[in-house]
Amino acid sequence: MDKIVINGAKPLCGKIEVSGMKNSAVAIIFGTILTEGKCVIENLPNISDVTDGLEILQSVGAVIRQLTKTTFEIDTTRIIPGSAPFDLVRKMRASYYILGAELGRFGKSKSAYPGGCDFGGRPIDQHIKGFEALGANVVVEGGYIDANATPNGLVANSVYMDVVTVGATINIILAAVKAKGTTIIENAAREPHIVDLASFLNAAGASISGAGTDVIKIKGVSKLHGVNYAIVPDMIEAGTYMIAAAATRGDLYIHNVIPKHLESISAKLEEMGAIVEEFDDAVRVTCSERPLTRVNVKTLPYPGFPTDMNPQMGVLLCLAKGTSTLSEGVWENRFKYVDELRSMGANVNVDGRIAVFEGGTVFSGAVVKAVDLRAGAAMIIAGLAAHGKTEIEEIQHIQRGYEDIVSKLRGVGADIKLISVPSTSMIDAKKAN
Ligand code: EPU
Repeated sequence: MDKIVINGAKPLCGKIEVSGMKNSAVAIIFGTILTEGKCVIENLPNISDVTDGLEILQSVGAVIRQLTKTTFEIDTTRIIPGSAPFDLVRKMRASYYILGAELGRFGKSKSAYPGGCDFGGRPIDQHIKGFEALGANVVVEGGYIDANATPNGLVANSVYMDVVTVGATINIILAAVKAKGTTIIENAAREPHIVDLASFLNAAGASISGAGTDVIKIKGVSKLHGVNYAIVPDMIEAGTYMIAAAATRGDLYIHNVIPKHLESISAKLEEMGAIVEEFDDAVRVTCSERPLTRVNVKTLPYPGFPTDMNPQMGVLLCLAKGTSTLSEGVWENRFKYVDELRSMGANVNVDGRIAVFEGGTVFSGAVVKAVDLRAGAAMIIAGLAAHGKTEIEEIQHIQRGYEDIVSKLRGVGADIKLISVPSTSMIDAKKAN
């Protein structure tokens, strides 16, 4: 198993570039299924969630050509619906977008129940409710989700989301793009990746309005065509580097970003005493000699403070002066990283969805693990701020969502390296075969 080794307590300074947004990329690559043609998708981040997604597409019959490191041509003309292999689908959460996309194009799909990071329960009732509202029959059985439209195809309807959910909003958009009539999604999620998916689909001939608000209207069209499309920058990757700059008392110019997407993060950093400057496609975060001060944070759906920044923010709250609270408004259990931070010296109490951080921690390097993707990013930030050597294990979680994070951070002064550790245990050796 590979690991990341950091010798910390060095400020990060310089320019760092942000890659394409993971959560847009995984929606759009499955969205290409609806186009029945060739799409060229640019700015796809080079991360394992994208390669896994492309592998799933290939396994159901898509022809994929890599044109550059981050540009792929995807031809979905000859897809066979319902043929995605169980084990591949289980590897990633967003694989369930194949359901909406195949249902939208073929009126049928069958796919394994998806995997992904474990934050407590991850129900899919709202996805199923949406598919059923469009007239599909959905059966969950034996680890599979089987969805079928009637012979007349899907029919538009109004769908009210009982909770604000990114995944269900995306899946219903995908299913409704070609349904007869106008589908209305109320209480829809407003995340930038939903806007990005709608922009991609509209460029391919769909008729979607209201993406980015809580009411999305999808007027069914008969056909979508191939298109060239570039994914927007990843707001969570950008936010991760913003926090890393503040945590190391550095000075980072973070470019290829959309500053508007980062407003909730910028606002909290400024409240804590960091300086955030906005440019057209960049933000600069600097930290003066003054200590960062305590703050209360609550994670919420966009445009609130993102849940996917909870662990990274948790690290900063350990370093700030005073007692801070971090309240999780999206997931049941997003504080599994706290145990790892404790082993580096953090003083945190978790009670359900609220964590209280006693600030002023001086982190000391330790052997920790990435319990999930964003928790792994938090361990990197803690390691960068810590005195001594930090070793992060189980970094496959980090590789799911951060392109070249080790070399990007090395480029701005971090003493960080990726180490390949040959497998010694029988179990690991078996897994590798
Ligand atoms: N929910 C339901 N029923 C559903 C679906 C969701 O009750 O049918 C609940 C969930 O339990 C949760 C809330 O709704 O409490 C929000 O879940 P959502 O559906 O928005 O999450 P998701 O689509 O599974 C995406 C991101 C996550 C991110 C969340 C929230 C992707 C591939 N994943 O997940 O990103 O945390 O939205 O913003 O887009 C990450 O990138 O590290 C990550 C985990």
